[in-house]
Amino acid sequence: MLKRANEYIAAKKDAADGEFRGTYHFTPQIGWMNDPNGFVYFRGEYHIFYQYYPYDSVWGPMHWGHATSKDLVRWTHQPVALAPDEDYDEGGCWSGSAIAVGDMLYLFYTGHTERDGVRVQTQNIAYSRDGVHFVKYEGNPVVGPAQIPEGTPVADFRDPYVFERDGKYFMLVGTLGDGVAKVQTYRSDDLFHWEYMSDILSRAHAGYCWECPSLVTADGENVFLCSPVDYPAEKYRFCNYNSCVYALGKFNPKTGKMQASAFDETDGGLDFYAAQATQDGKGAVMIAWMNMWNRTNVTHELGHGWAGSFTLPRRLHTKDGKLLQTPAEGISAYYTDEMTISDTLDGTAPYEGVSGNILRLKISADVSACRSFTISLFADDTHGTMLTYDAEEGTVLLDRSESGYPVAGDAREVSEGKRRIAQYRPENGLLEMEIFLDKSSAEIFFGEGELVMTALVYPPEGAEDIRFSCEGSVRLSVVKNGITVS
Ligand code: FRU
Repeated sequence: MLKRANEYIAAKKDAADGEFRGTYHFTPQIGWMNDPNGFVYFRGEYHIFYQYYPYDSVWGPMHWGHATSKDLVRWTHQPVALAPDEDYDEGGCWSGSAIAVGDMLYLFYTGHTERDGVRVQTQNIAYSRDGVHFVKYEGNPVVGPAQIPEGTPVADFRDPYVFERDGKYFMLVGTLGDGVAKVQTYRSDDLFHWEYMSDILSRAHAGYCWECPSLVTADGENVFLCSPVDYPAEKYRFCNYNSCVYALGKFNPKTGKMQASAFDETDGGLDFYAAQATQDGKGAVMIAWMNMWNRTNVTHELGHGWAGSFTLPRRLHTKDGKLLQTPAEGISAYYTDEMTISDTLDGTAPYEGVSGNILRLKISADVSACRSFTISLFADDTHGTMLTYDAEEGTVLLDRSESGYPVAGDAREVSEGKRRIAQYRPENGLLEMEIFLDKSSAEIFFGEGELVMTALVYPPEGAEDIRFSCEGSVRLSVVKNGITVS
């Protein structure tokens, strides 16, 4: 099956249509991609694996695609690493993680099977010495029904995240138990034998199931990430049907539990799910699927032959009970043609030279004398992706309802898959933003990264204006860089 997948990709990849393919965001060559998996630094390179169905631009029996990078920007496609070719994973090699031990790279993934309507999910290992060719462990599964605590369904028990603390290994597995979404902690001395400890973090009203856990350390604090399905909306937060959340605190290796002092949504936009983080020499770095379940699959509808991309990799920090995210350092090496504007805006303005759909904007806006301030991205006379700061409410709104090809959300979504609001009032009236546009995506980092909003958009050809407007007046400084990754 691996050979078939790799041959198929080689034969078909040039048929994919790149109209909406990002240039500095990772995308599959052909076919469908969802979650990032196995994000790890191994022998001088970052490896990213991903949930992959090469044969169509919709979800199907999952393989693990694979790519490597030295700087987290320029990725090299590698052969498909895993295919669903064993009894215990015949329904798909679902999400998981990687850990480097000595000169070996170990992948941990969920084997999914569905026979006569009965779903079983188990945790499995594949290993490699060269980081390219993987062998599935003959003793798989390493965590199966026998190790599942009572009340936890074997049908929803997935996405193992493995990490090391004080010479012991820990595995987090997303699930639900007795009707409450949770993540279970396991422990092992050797990676192959696992013993159940407890659930890591108990919360009532946590949604239906917690998927894709991660645990890293940033600035001395543990950062726990996971992706709850159907987490209940709270005013402006958790307004997509699938959310991504983080908790900050301390993981206790003796109990397998985390004492959490902060809990919030990871990204306040529309397309951010299944984030995974890893540790490298510089700290913690996170990447996510820049997309969402149950939304219009635009590139599929358009017959472009591919679907799915990743966010920019984001460096993680913590400060005052908040997770801070900034674009991972590597991207700045690809900035081109810088231009700067300084102005007092008291109406509407395009600024000559501030336009384009593959770029980075650094904006500093004194909003203390305005009622509202709007930036329209990917704009022409009838389209735009609107970013509006409302001074009275102390909110920012990201609205893609007029951005181009329409995207509809899941009927249960408060966001309707179209717009998100976040509570945000900058200190001293100075709104600082770093905005990354890449043909079909916008990632907006506010302040020091305490809020990020991410969304996909499908603008018509030529909608590349960036227009600024305000009610009142705004003292504005804008730095624009093109970004070229050849
Ligand atoms: C999250 C998820 C995981 C699962 C994978 C299947 O997006 O639902 O829980 O392992 O996708 O592709």
